[in-house]
Amino acid sequence: MIDLKNIYIETYGCQMNFSDSEIVVSILENDSYKYTSDINSAGVILINTCSIRDKAEQRIWKRINQLKSLKKKNTNLIIGVIGCMAERLKNELLKTDVVDLVAGPDAYRDMPALIEKAKKNQKASNVVLSEIETYDEIKPNYFQTNGVSAFISIMRGCQNFCTYCVVPYTRGKERSRSPESIINEAKNLFEKGYREVTLLGQNVNSYKWDSNNEKVNFAKLLESVALISPLLRVRFTTSHPKDISDELIYTIAKYKNICNYIHLPMQSGSTKILKLMNRRYTREWYMDRIKAIKRIIPDCSISTDVISGFCSETEEDHQDTLSLMQWVGYDFAYMFKYSERSGTYAAKKLKDDVPEDVKGRRLNEIIALQQKLSYESNLKDVGKTFEVLIEGVSKRSGKQFSGRNQQNKVVVFDKEDAKIGQYVNVKITDCTSATLIGKILNK
Ligand code: SAH
Ligand code: SF4
Ligand code: F3S
Repeated sequence: MIDLKNIYIETYGCQMNFSDSEIVVSILENDSYKYTSDINSAGVILINTCSIRDKAEQRIWKRINQLKSLKKKNTNLIIGVIGCMAERLKNELLKTDVVDLVAGPDAYRDMPALIEKAKKNQKASNVVLSEIETYDEIKPNYFQTNGVSAFISIMRGCQNFCTYCVVPYTRGKERSRSPESIINEAKNLFEKGYREVTLLGQNVNSYKWDSNNEKVNFAKLLESVALISPLLRVRFTTSHPKDISDELIYTIAKYKNICNYIHLPMQSGSTKILKLMNRRYTREWYMDRIKAIKRIIPDCSISTDVISGFCSETEEDHQDTLSLMQWVGYDFAYMFKYSERSGTYAAKKLKDDVPEDVKGRRLNEIIALQQKLSYESNLKDVGKTFEVLIEGVSKRSGKQFSGRNQQNKVVVFDKEDAKIGQYVNVKITDCTSATLIGKILNK
């Protein structure tokens, strides 16, 4: 049965969006609404969207079209589009006969009012970006979690203006949340039984808090969260290579519960392309930072993001990307074809001149190399024993659990008498390029 007070929410895009959906649900539940996981009982359907690549937006347009039939069945149904695509394409979205309301990433406190307006059959929107909003005191409703691992958003926005990227336009200026509220949120999660938090931001290592004579950088914040309990694992993402200091790497090394895993997107291995991307580091700088990580944390795993076929990328630039990947020996990578986004510097000033088939072929070479690197990295782990935090039942078999080791590698193993949320020592006996397979060691 449909209840007009029931909220259903679907999330696309990055982890920041996942965390935001939990904030949106909390804001609405503090009003008069209730979260439902059943779309057919919802009076309000929200789609939290991503604009990062054209493909991401196409997928969401498709989804919006599918929702037409639900709207025909129930004329009272409110459909809202929120997040980055809402920010970017407000007018196009409101023009459709599906979308009733649009809210950008900094307008979520306005959601109850927007829904009220939409209920009166008026199109409602708020895409005003803020320089201060961090939803600091909102306690997220962790409806998407497994009760073991949760995300904590520590900062919002980005003003690095990498020339290909829409995020500075959809999420506004960079701002950090108070250390006190972050530490409290992590403490609350730990007390509720959670055993892992991931601190989130587009550039977590640029985290900066400076108020009432209290100065806190990311290394200090990370340390404070790690000190809550040795049983609370701390992760963080994404780190920008330009800001990865030795102080931060030493902090990760110092605390056992700060996971030895760094996601450090390189984007390209060619200094010429990095300059055109406005990444503010060179191939040599990036290599120096990787050397520092490997020196200070020898068992640290490292992952990356790579873009193939950015404007004016030559075969030589592409080879530079492959050779840097090989040199680092990434454990994991997210790999994309360059997708031009209107409004960005690259769209306005640079030519998207690498033909689609060349972008595709280069991407395939990047993926094939990473597949080999991931497999090699996992093979090295066979025979080793890792502490694994059990996150849930394995998708492959109900008889097995799945969890991750410090290095963020997924490990599956027979359940034996262990429990979700528990730490176990697992000896690795086998692997694929994506998963480690092992057995719990008798205590
Ligand atoms: N803040 C993070 C990443 C945010 S977006 C960072 O700077 O590393 C996640 C990834 O999407 C980026 O690292 C990049 O690899 C990819 N990406 C962003 N814009 C893109 C575009 N226009 N085309 C293709 N990939 C893109
Ligand atoms: Fe986009 Fe660059 Fe900011 Fe990452 S750092 S979100 S790639 S502008
Ligand atoms: Fe997408 Fe916005 Fe995240 S564009 S990647 S949802 S910040």
